[in-house]
Amino acid sequence: MCGIVGYIGEKQAAPILLDGLAKLEYRGYDSAGLAVYKDGAISVQKAVGKLVNLVNKTDGGASLDGTLGIGHTRWATHGKPNETNAHPHTGSRFSLVHNGIIENEAKLRRKYLKDTEFVSETDTEVIVRLLDKFTEGGEDVDVAIMHLIDVLEGSYALAIIDSLDGDRMYAVKNKSPLLIGKGEGFNMIGSDAMAMIAHTEWFYEIHDKEFAIVSRDGVEIFTSYSQKIDREPYKAELDLSDVSKGTYPFFTIKEIEEQPLVIRRVLKEYQDETGELYIPEEILKDLRECDKIYIIACGTSYHAGIVGKYFFENISDKPADSYVASEFVYNTPKLTEKPFFIFISQSGETADSRAVLVKIKKMGYKALTITNVKGSTLSREANHTLLLYAGPEIAVASTKAYTAQVAVLAILAAAVENKIGINLKYELAVVANTMEGLCSDSELYSDLAREYLQNTRNCFYIGRGIDYYVCLEAALKLKEISYIQTEGFAAGELKHGTIALIEEGTPVIAIITQNNIDLNTRSNIDEVNARGAKSLIISMRSVSSHGDQIVVGDVHEMLAPLVSVVPAQYLAYYASYQRGYDVDKPRNLAKSVTVE
Ligand code: AGP
Repeated sequence: MCGIVGYIGEKQAAPILLDGLAKLEYRGYDSAGLAVYKDGAISVQKAVGKLVNLVNKTDGGASLDGTLGIGHTRWATHGKPNETNAHPHTGSRFSLVHNGIIENEAKLRRKYLKDTEFVSETDTEVIVRLLDKFTEGGEDVDVAIMHLIDVLEGSYALAIIDSLDGDRMYAVKNKSPLLIGKGEGFNMIGSDAMAMIAHTEWFYEIHDKEFAIVSRDGVEIFTSYSQKIDREPYKAELDLSDVSKGTYPFFTIKEIEEQPLVIRRVLKEYQDETGELYIPEEILKDLRECDKIYIIACGTSYHAGIVGKYFFENISDKPADSYVASEFVYNTPKLTEKPFFIFISQSGETADSRAVLVKIKKMGYKALTITNVKGSTLSREANHTLLLYAGPEIAVASTKAYTAQVAVLAILAAAVENKIGINLKYELAVVANTMEGLCSDSELYSDLAREYLQNTRNCFYIGRGIDYYVCLEAALKLKEISYIQTEGFAAGELKHGTIALIEEGTPVIAIITQNNIDLNTRSNIDEVNARGAKSLIISMRSVSSHGDQIVVGDVHEMLAPLVSVVPAQYLAYYASYQRGYDVDKPRNLAKSVTVE
């Protein structure tokens, strides 16, 4: 997902913009650029590839003089990742950066810009050309921006500077995330607080179809019909340590090893003053009154949702299902009479998930969002929010957010109705301690990754029941950061065709934690071993056998995913690290995918 930073103040803008973009690198990108205003002119520098190329090209920002500017990291959607298509895009007067997709760009080109010479392949250039167009007759910039909001369809977060005005910049938002950072003698614009937290911890939200005029000593927010909005800034719950690697080589391993702390924080945050685990009554009321829970998510969050389904159906006896958002929105199943929707999203900005939220709200249904980002779009637009308290997750591969999602779902399911009398406060504390023990075995995981994964092109994770659900997540982790083609497979299903892919040395990793099906999975391992597979077993102690390579400590069987996933996360990390990849920023991926 693209990253946006803007600065207006007394200091040189370019170094501040570069530092802000560096904090947004985790979002994934393939080019970057800066535009800085000085004495009636805007200077622009862009570079393809890593941000360091732009840093070098601008001599750390020194070559761009000025105290007002905007910066951007681009994750290409329209047009190749090259300098021409990189942002900022500059017209005859304005320069701007954009995150999102303009869905009616072709119509706008035909209607307003027939005679315009375009230099890029991007939808973003249409926006800056429109702004030129709407002000060429002397229209005020704020009026032109309102006109822009009226005609643009799709998602956009914009930061805009004007070559005729060195005392303000503009922020415009619809569906894509954008915040204003409030400083003393300066102000900033950013895709999220991470880009600005080094300078301020106070932020203004901008809501859809609003825009802000940002000067050195003030921020004014308006609706698209020029109504001024008095909105109080809020203090971010971030601090700089959250967004630094400390002594770790990558955020991925740091965040894997933060998981015991995260589970303990979830336990603390979801306790009421009596020390009992607590979910707000208005959420429980909606969940108890519905006749089915529809869990909507993508990627890792979808995998957490599948475990959540298992919890609702086995802890609170509530029908539930987990759906891939991008499928659900265009292929909506027949809904029950009284559905209730739960959206799971680490970022709270995933466009596929938001598209479903918009759809079900139009149908009159209610929703809860479980997210790691307070004030995110999916949080603001749902009826209820439950936070993950996982701290910022910087690495593209989601780890601590997954286990936090599973823990919150367990607490939620038991709060709806605890049919099995599970003592979650105790059991989750056991999970945190067990996770801690696993984190001291990193040398084992490193050795196993080298032995099993260093030279392979493919791999299988197999399991049954809740172990199978973890296999789906384990497979995603491995493939998205080591690029090893990996499938998470129902162990019993392998023999119905896919076992044909097993050949000499094919790595097959089994997850075995459930005592009613452990022997079944072990016989599936025998089947693949008989065909030359190189099998590795991750088992829970109570069902482990001699020779299992990774044995995790016993936790409540229902919570096994919280511990069996940890070795899989480590294996993925070391497989990627040993191949020399950028573990935190895998190729082609973005941390939060805000385009459908
Ligand atoms: C997980 O490792 C991936 N980075 C990706 O699948 C991610 O989980 C997915 O894009 C959903 O993101 P969200 O949780 O922010 O909605």
